[in-house]
Amino acid sequence: MSFTIAVAGKGGTGKTTISSLIIRDLLKRGKKPIFAVDADANVNLNEQLGVEVEKTIGGVREDMLQKVGVGEMPSGMTKEQYMEYELQDSLVEAEGFDLLVMGRPEGPGCYCYANNLLRRYMEILAKNYPYVVIDNEAGMEHLSRRTTQKIDLLLVVSEPNPISIMTAARIRDLAKDLKIDVKKVGLIVNRVNGESPEILKAEAEKYGLELAGIVPADATVVEYSWQRRPATKMPDDAPSVMAVTGILDKFVA
Ligand SMILES: Nc1ncnc2c1ncn2[C@@H]1O[C@H](COP(=O)(O)OP(=O)(O)OP(=O)(O)O)[C@@H](O)[C@H]1O
Ligand SMILES: [Mg+2]
Repeated sequence: MSFTIAVAGKGGTGKTTISSLIIRDLLKRGKKPIFAVDADANVNLNEQLGVEVEKTIGGVREDMLQKVGVGEMPSGMTKEQYMEYELQDSLVEAEGFDLLVMGRPEGPGCYCYANNLLRRYMEILAKNYPYVVIDNEAGMEHLSRRTTQKIDLLLVVSEPNPISIMTAARIRDLAKDLKIDVKKVGLIVNRVNGESPEILKAEAEKYGLELAGIVPADATVVEYSWQRRPATKMPDDAPSVMAVTGILDKFVA
């Protein structure tokens, strides 16, 4: 059974950075292979993981819809086989992890059939990995579309201010409203720059949010981002790397 960690939060709070640092940390712990999912339409987790993406699930879905429409399924292949093949083909295989990119959401059209197949195969696929890490877009669309799979740990990322912490609580509520099966929720306050952990913790508790941890504003993250270097390559002693390790110590055996 895989342990699924989903990272959510408002735009620009640091979801992708933190997702990559989680993957970095799990790799270091030897929790391999990891199934990384970029569930943001603005695909960029791959850059932070240092891999290239050729196909997205959104693209596969569009393709299938079009091919079915013009009766162009490769001969001898059922739609199921075609989808399974395409899904395998979209998987970016890297050292210790595989990445699947969801890509843009569907346009107008009837995608139910393609979506159902996708969902089914993704769930089968996820079972091959001890850890699944999902970098989500703010609306959590992709999470809500999943059916049976639970989220063991939902980490909501916020900035170190009261408004952002309130927004994080709303995102937690949204997950509830969307009936996403979440076992545990934790708040990560990112880019902390002198704000007191006690105050952040107290603020989170006003909304019944547990502070999973804080990640400091880290010059290494800024430097790597300008140099277009993957966050996973940051050194062990970078403050943000150490902070994420400290957070995962609480949840990963
Ligand atoms: N702890 C940190 N210290 C310094 N800079 C950070 C930190 N975390 C994130 N950043 C920077 O903030 C910016 C946004 O981070 P990131 O892309 O991870 O956010 P996001 O929530 O995934 O954004 P989006 O909603 O656009 O997907 C990036 O330039 C990143 O380098
Ligand atoms: Mg992102």
